[in-house]
Amino acid sequence: MDKASHEIHNVTHEVSSMAASFAAKIDTICTSLVERSWVVVPDFLDTESCRHLVADIQDLQSQGLMRPAGVGRGEQLQIAPEVRSDLIYWLDDTNLTPSQATAYQQLQALQLALNRTLFFGLRSLEAHLTLYKSAGAYAKHVDNFSGTSARFLSCIIYLSPDYHSADGGQLRLYQPATPTEVAAEVEPRGGTLACFLSAQVPHEVLTTNRERYSLTAWFRT
Ligand code: OGA
Ligand code: MN
Repeated sequence: MDKASHEIHNVTHEVSSMAASFAAKIDTICTSLVERSWVVVPDFLDTESCRHLVADIQDLQSQGLMRPAGVGRGEQLQIAPEVRSDLIYWLDDTNLTPSQATAYQQLQALQLALNRTLFFGLRSLEAHLTLYKSAGAYAKHVDNFSGTSARFLSCIIYLSPDYHSADGGQLRLYQPATPTEVAAEVEPRGGTLACFLSAQVPHEVLTTNRERYSLTAWFRT
């Protein structure tokens, strides 16, 4: 084999093994969502994209565009830092940076697979970038209580590089059937995806000891 075709062979191999590992991840996600309503997937988003997204959040923060997130809906919307203290920036899917687009593509690949395999009927995606400063938290809640065109699947992609347990900010998930019982504590390590059925899984963000960066998304049916 000459050098060029050898290189081509290697590249093709890499791409197909990437596709294979993504397919394996999708399989795990489907199985876990059916069995227990939640799943955690390490290395869902590549390090480069995570780094760029953290830089986006830092830029937005320095421009004053990361805003306190509200609690409740419409006229009931309130800023309640004792409930949640994150700063958010809603993404506009007609105007994404390349890394935001990469994250969207990954989530849309997941959407396609879930619709094909589990007939979830996920239609639209809404997403915001999220920053918790040190000493931030989000009290136990459910993302959706029910209703039509409601949030069906919650997806959080963590972005912080070099996460250590002492940094806090773990996502604590509760058992859907026995919501006082803890199901898991997820470390918000850069690249990890946490994904759960929005109406089923109560959860909270434990107090952060350091900035915590993420991209939070919901699929509606
Ligand atoms: C939310 C939420 C969890 C997390 O934004 O509704 O629960 O781990 N986020 O960031
Ligand atoms: Mn939530």
